[in-house]
Amino acid sequence: MTITAQKYLVAALSLGLLAAVVAAGTVESRLRLEAEKAAGAGTGPLDPALDRGRQLYEKYSCVACHGAGGAGGVYNANAQTGGMINGVKFVAETYTKEDLSKKILDGVPVVPKADPNGPNPPLAMPSYRGVIGVEEMRVLVDYLYSLRPPGAAKKPAEW
Ligand code: HEC
Repeated sequence: MTITAQKYLVAALSLGLLAAVVAAGTVESRLRLEAEKAAGAGTGPLDPALDRGRQLYEKYSCVACHGAGGAGGVYNANAQTGGMINGVKFVAETYTKEDLSKKILDGVPVVPKADPNGPNPPLAMPSYRGVIGVEEMRVLVDYLYSLRPPGAAKKPAEW
């Protein structure tokens, strides 16, 4: 083999090696992405648009009353809804996107009492009219829709 042929061979081999490293890197980053997705299930969506919705859910304090990820669990004495504020995980089943936006804009100024002779529940939902604009509302509502657990057949009884 001449020196030139050897040089070509070495160059070809290094190119092959480079291609293999690049391919391995792609597979590796794809696997990492899938692992992150699996780990993120339940803790928060990775989709940037949905993540922005999650940030709005925090920014507008929805999280303080409806819980992280819409899971509920916030105490509201004498509220008709079992003394707790409802979670918002299943709104995709009970509201159209339009009705959901309207509900958020209206708020719930008067929360129905469990015991009519008891005190008013301390927490009522403020109106977000003039606070959340059309574009943010769309992102927030998409996020709320995304909270429905995949495969959930219908809203569970305890909700
Ligand atoms: C100060 C507490 C509070 C805050 C903040 C709040 N809510 Fe509410 N929300 C309530 C209460 C109380 C109700 C009515 C009773 C219930 O559903 O538990 C309600 C009802 C709802 C409902 C109807 C639930 C159903 O079961 O039909 C939705 C949807 C909702 N809120 C979404 C939101 C979103 C989105 C935000 C943030 C932009 C928000 N809420 C902020 C307290 C709050």
